[in-house]
Amino acid sequence: MSPFLRLAALLALAGAVVAAPAASDCTGTIASLDDVDDAVKCTTVVINSFTVPAGETFNLDLADGTTVNMEGDVTFAVKDWDGPLFQVSGKSITFNGNGHTFDGNGPSYWDGQGGNGGVTKPAPMMKIKISGTYSVLNSPERVYSVSNPAALTMTALTIDNSAGDAPNSKSDGQPAGHNTDGFDCSTTNLIIENSMIHNQDDCLAINKGSNIVFQNNTCIGGHGISVGSIDSDVTVSGIVIQNNNVQNNDQALRIKTKASSTDSTVTNITYSGNVGTGLRQFGVLIDQSYPDTLGTPGNGVKLSAVNFVGSTNTLTVNSGAQRVAVNCGSGSCTGTWNWSGLKVSGGTAGKITNFNGITGFTQ
Ligand SMILES: *[C@@H]1O[C@H](CO)[C@@H](O)[C@H](O)[C@H]1NC(C)=O
Ligand SMILES: *[C@@H]1O[C@H](CO)[C@@H](O)[C@H](O)[C@H]1NC(C)=O
Ligand SMILES: *[C@@H]1O[C@H](CO)[C@@H](O)[C@H](O)[C@H]1NC(C)=O
Repeated sequence: MSPFLRLAALLALAGAVVAAPAASDCTGTIASLDDVDDAVKCTTVVINSFTVPAGETFNLDLADGTTVNMEGDVTFAVKDWDGPLFQVSGKSITFNGNGHTFDGNGPSYWDGQGGNGGVTKPAPMMKIKISGTYSVLNSPERVYSVSNPAALTMTALTIDNSAGDAPNSKSDGQPAGHNTDGFDCSTTNLIIENSMIHNQDDCLAINKGSNIVFQNNTCIGGHGISVGSIDSDVTVSGIVIQNNNVQNNDQALRIKTKASSTDSTVTNITYSGNVGTGLRQFGVLIDQSYPDTLGTPGNGVKLSAVNFVGSTNTLTVNSGAQRVAVNCGSGSCTGTWNWSGLKVSGGTAGKITNFNGITGFTQ
């Protein structure tokens, strides 16, 4: 069970046994973690500038309908631990960031290895189940894990991990930031829009869930917009990825399913009006051999109805990159996929393996 699920279960239990006290129409102000318990009894919460002590989570368990106003920047002191650094839950929450930041002090952790080695880095930095507007600076590792209990719109967020592009003394010449995924989503009924993500890993990674829209976002420097990586026994359906701008990423649009996965289904993925430039390895990569790239594919994830329709998706790959590569397991990509809304230029054509159901597109 993930830490988040465990927490949700505990909260549900607490709600059933002891009725939560009704929230008051007052303003609670937080200027240190000591203020949190009292402040969340109010339906207006103000966050002033303060530093969260190392190794502690700033946890806001808000009353329904609360409005949060940030009036200063929040900084997280550094410690090698699992995190998360910030967690917020509640229904019908309005979260006004007012241009302030959550600063995860990423450069103090970055060693080019992310979650694969080196020091333990708190991740995700932010566990979010609300709607709002705010920005975040320099996450140690993954930034957002989104698990909303009801429909949620995340809009106009800024994830600025651009400082992680440069190597540092610990990263052996590689970019110091690593595994800095923008949004990791395992959820339903979510819209993420109008946001800017500059990082060194997936801009968006949908691990499971349905009815997710990712639109009008700008992704800079990372690994593109991903469905996956897909484990065993999960379903992904009803995903719309539209009008995003992907710049200088490894690929623009990717579906990655693990070679070892079984009993999973990915279906009804629609791409429309996305633009990609400066793509370093692929324009579109659909690969059932993850974690290998274009290795031996598995066939335990059924993949269907992957369509590029509506406004044309226009991608330009760098010389040396492949325009489109599709690597299906034997018999695991099915149906007819309408790719009439895809134009990719530059580089060389890639290979399409084990599938002949793509219509409206030739490379
Ligand atoms: C797209 O996002 C930008 C901010 O990145 C915003 O200014 C613009 O209004 C958005 N467009 C639409 C159609 O929402
Ligand atoms: C595909 O997903 C879209 C968006 O969630 C939804 O509107 C549509 O009904 C789905 N189509 C099918 C065949 O399930
Ligand atoms: C493919 O999608 C386009 C819309 O982008 C539509 O006009 C066309 O009819 C579709 N083709 C097929 C074969 O369904």
